[in-house]
Amino acid sequence: MMLRRSDGSEIPTELVITRISRDGPAMFTAFIRDVTMERRTREALAGSEQRLRNLAARLQEAIEEERTRIAREIHDELGQQLTALKLDLAWILRRYETGDRSAVDERLTAMANLVDATAETVRRLATGLRPGILDDLGVVPALEWQAREFETRTGICVDLTLPDDDDLDVPAEHATAFFRILQELLTNVTRHAKAKTVRICLEQDEGDLVLEVQDDGRGISAAETASGGSLGLVGMRERVGLLRGRIDFEGTPGAGTKVTTRVPLRVVASAR
Ligand SMILES: Nc1ncnc2c1ncn2[C@@H]1O[C@H](COP(=O)(O)OP(=O)(O)OP(=O)(O)O)[C@@H](O)[C@H]1O
Ligand SMILES: [Mg+2]
Repeated sequence: MMLRRSDGSEIPTELVITRISRDGPAMFTAFIRDVTMERRTREALAGSEQRLRNLAARLQEAIEEERTRIAREIHDELGQQLTALKLDLAWILRRYETGDRSAVDERLTAMANLVDATAETVRRLATGLRPGILDDLGVVPALEWQAREFETRTGICVDLTLPDDDDLDVPAEHATAFFRILQELLTNVTRHAKAKTVRICLEQDEGDLVLEVQDDGRGISAAETASGGSLGLVGMRERVGLLRGRIDFEGTPGAGTKVTTRVPLRVVASAR
């Protein structure tokens, strides 16, 4: 049932009529209840269920894309290098069989170089999956490495401010989250911002670990920030939410985007 306010707006209501009949004539009681809040809650719940479904679907797609990319790299790069080594070995064996040792030394040197290149490929693939630096040296060197790598790869200038490594005691879960968030933010800068410079600042503020990433690109719009359609922003919000922190996106049209991630260090995450 709909009622109207004096300004014409509608109030969703629920009407319950109960018949009370004792000995006398039948009597009715009627309750009219304003269900605006209930309806809003239901709609918000349906919206968040839909967003979760979208996220789950995109997550599956992203996992498949990632697997396809890794499979392709392993096949194309490692596969080719190993095939080349096998051909070289067959060539050397033939030389040994025929007793013709000429040019064998040269071929062995080339093979040693190819083994080095193969080892480098393995290292690069493994680092891409999970950088050892994160486990071995901690979050500060890992973020520094990532920022420098980004600068070299994209030519976008990075202005980096990091705290003194020794002052920070960051749980592994937080370290991984900050590493992955910076990775996604920098990917977004490359893909969407058209920026020349990125300022990255990590600091401990009271009990919080705070990461600020600011670019001087086109600036994310409010609609893009609010949309739950893509995985990047939603994934970062989920990560930060699990650690009971928050992430804020601020875009200024034509002037850039600033993303602030703030996570309390002491609270233990409720889930992975
Ligand atoms: N630094 C940025 N500058 C300008 N626009 C941005 C920036 N970061 C994100 N955006 C905009 O916000 C949108 C949402 O970002 P998000 O990372 O969620 O998605 P995506 O990068 O398009 O896809 P993916 O799910 O693969 O990350 C982007 O499509 C882009 O339009
Ligand atoms: Mg993205």
